Amino acid sequence: MTNRKEPDVSIPTAATLTRTERQADIRINGLAKSYGLPGHEVLAMSDVTLDVASGEFVAVVGASGCGKSTLLRILAGFEKPSTGSVLVGGTPVTGPGSDRGVVFQDYGLFPWLTVRENVAYGPRQHGVSRRAARETADEFLALVGLTRSAGKFPGQLSGGMQQRVAIARVLANNPAVLLMDEPFGALDALTRTDLQAELRRIHRANAATVLFVTHSIEEAVYLADRVVVMTGGAAHGVPGHIRQIVPVNLGDNRDPSSSEFNAVKRMIADLVHEGSDHV
Ligand SMILES: Nc1ncnc2c1ncn2[C@@H]1O[C@H](COP(=O)(O)OP(=O)(O)OP(=O)(O)O)[C@@H](O)[C@H]1O
Ligand SMILES: [Mg+2]
Repeated sequence: MTNRKEPDVSIPTAATLTRTERQADIRINGLAKSYGLPGHEVLAMSDVTLDVASGEFVAVVGASGCGKSTLLRILAGFEKPSTGSVLVGGTPVTGPGSDRGVVFQDYGLFPWLTVRENVAYGPRQHGVSRRAARETADEFLALVGLTRSAGKFPGQLSGGMQQRVAIARVLANNPAVLLMDEPFGALDALTRTDLQAELRRIHRANAATVLFVTHSIEEAVYLADRVVVMTGGAAHGVPGHIRQIVPVNLGDNRDPSSSEFNAVKRMIADLVHEGSDHV
């Protein structure tokens, strides 16, 4: 992994933004999800119980098909669980809500709005003045290195750039909970390590509760307070489930080249591989 440069812009914090009601923990209890027609259902995920404290950063890793995206879609309110319950900030999730910011692999940008307008959209919806929303948008676009693309339309950007706009747009809403499903998967290595460092700094500054799905164990260990290892899935004949939750006690300044870092990484890799044929 390359050196992560410090971003040269100051990070907008909760204080510079408008929303105040932004403390939320996540309580997931006995969650299961099956897909298919009644009588022909396949249990994709079962028995998932997990509490994420307010302000905690939790990464989820595991082989393809073990139910990571299913879990995040249920938390986002895009899908209903078959059994079990999810509480965010003590409130049952019944659908999407502005308390939860979502970055999934399909960017979900509005193609008819410019990059700046896409990022300013959420603050505008929350009653922020046009001028302040524009300033917020520009701050976050600087953060993801897209100042010069602010006036372009999403269709004029590369996939990785669109993904950065999607990240800026979610951060500009300052949600209490961030749900991120492989948000850096489409980025080149350099941009990815820059954004990892920035996400850590943003998280320290604004203390959102984060659930972050990634295929990169290194990314999980670099970012998270705890790493949830999931295994199983249809291809393995058992529903996806949590195999183990690994605390990452490496402090704030993590060095991916250190032996401590690599020991945690190896341990998680072993857990992922034991339960699957491939990652
Ligand atoms: N809409 C759907 N209809 C039917 N089956 C589905 C649907 N969505 C997911 N599944 C199944 O549920 C299981 C879990 O899928 P999910 O997308 O959550 O896995 P994942 O861990 O995110 O995998 P990946 O790492 O490849 O993104 C898989 O077996 C998948 O085929
Ligand atoms: Mg997925």
